[in-house]
Amino acid sequence: MADIPDDPTTARSAERFRDRTLNLLPAELLSTVYRRRGSVAGIGRFVCLLGADANRFILANTELFSWREAFRAFIPVSGDTALILSDGSAHRRMRRLVQPSFHLAQVQRHMSIVAENADAVIDGWRPGQRIDVDQAFRSAIRRSTIHSLFGRQMGMETEFFTEQLRDPLDLVRSGVAPVVTWNRRLSTPRWRRSMAALSKVDERIYAEISRVRCGADVGDNLLASLAHAVDESGVPLSDKEIRDQVVNLISADETTHPLIPWAIYGMLTAPGAWDRAASEVREILGDRWPEADDLKRLTYLNGVVHETLRLYPPSAIMLRYVVKDFEFAGRHVRRGSTVWFSPYITHRMPELWPEPLAFRPQRWDPTDPSYRKHRNNEYLPFVSGPHRCVGAELAVTELTVILARLLARSSLHLPEQRIRPGNIPVMGPVHGLHVDVLD
Ligand code: HEM
Repeated sequence: MADIPDDPTTARSAERFRDRTLNLLPAELLSTVYRRRGSVAGIGRFVCLLGADANRFILANTELFSWREAFRAFIPVSGDTALILSDGSAHRRMRRLVQPSFHLAQVQRHMSIVAENADAVIDGWRPGQRIDVDQAFRSAIRRSTIHSLFGRQMGMETEFFTEQLRDPLDLVRSGVAPVVTWNRRLSTPRWRRSMAALSKVDERIYAEISRVRCGADVGDNLLASLAHAVDESGVPLSDKEIRDQVVNLISADETTHPLIPWAIYGMLTAPGAWDRAASEVREILGDRWPEADDLKRLTYLNGVVHETLRLYPPSAIMLRYVVKDFEFAGRHVRRGSTVWFSPYITHRMPELWPEPLAFRPQRWDPTDPSYRKHRNNEYLPFVSGPHRCVGAELAVTELTVILARLLARSSLHLPEQRIRPGNIPVMGPVHGLHVDVLD
């Protein structure tokens, strides 16, 4: 077992990490640019629009940007009808069909799947063991998402989807369309390997779509709803359109898992946070799985989730592809430019967040004196507007359920180690996050 100091405020983590929030280097560099140059800076066709006013402008003027052009590199994997790769009326049509399965009430019906997967991870832990909690919960989260959205059968094949999508996603994750194009044109071994893996994934998804269309009962979930859906003109979705959404959603789910290590880091390093969250969970849930009605009563734990999304937003730096010239803060931005903006920088601004670098879950509790209501342009882990993350409620519910099980069932210590946030593909701990299991 790890050697733990007696002082209760340091007992949860190595002294070096105590009350310390970690920084993401590229975002810190942009933050320095903001402090020195103001809300607009850039070279040529690359422009940074930083701060709450810039966010407000970007969120209010969606017609200036194209998501398809911004994420074009993903087309060979996610397919050209995927939500994030669609603009205008094509996007509205697909969003109307996909969104209902992500409404909070719908998502909450699958909470037991998440709790079961979390318990399966924790069941394997023994006192004295050192665990990388980033790795440990990665596939539990993905299995929960796939099972909830596409049925038990596909959920059981989570490892297959993870394995087969690894190469294709690595190829397109650079986000640089010409890199992907050249791999395709030269038919490089990397390209061929990725496409071979992708066709196995497609084969599996098409088989499942066909099973559902032939009447197989996969439960009340997104796959069933898309297979029987018709759009406003009465046209059903094609198999290819459904396949594109499935691949897009499985890949998008990668955004959720880094929040678990960051939440654990925050709770173990902020004095008293783990104990307060654990006693709330014990008081409200005892040892049972959380149900829908419990979620809003877990006030402090909800604060933990929001505080984690504030300090470690997975999409720390985001981009927009400009399709119409515009002016912002005296700067002319041309069509064809790429705009960068940053939830990370906004979430750490002292003018918006008192003690911005402190992990303080209580600031989200409306009854706490430090509570402040925040606008969409000040707190934007999921952004807002037509492309707002469709999985936001699912992600928050999954995180809350997993953390509730963890707090109810384990006692952890954060040992001395190297912890470095990186932002490819999303902001996560590059070397994982290792904890010692105490109990
Ligand atoms: C904490 C976890 C997550 C975070 C922080 C997050 C963040 C985001 C953000 C910032 C966007 C907007 C992208 C843009 O406008 O450029 C987005 C879009 C999207 N997210 Fe998430 N996401 C998370 C989890 C999920 C999950 C679990 C799913 C589904 C399983 C999902 C599916 C999507 C989809 C399909 C879009 C595109 C929506 C559209 O274009 O209409 N996300 N997400």
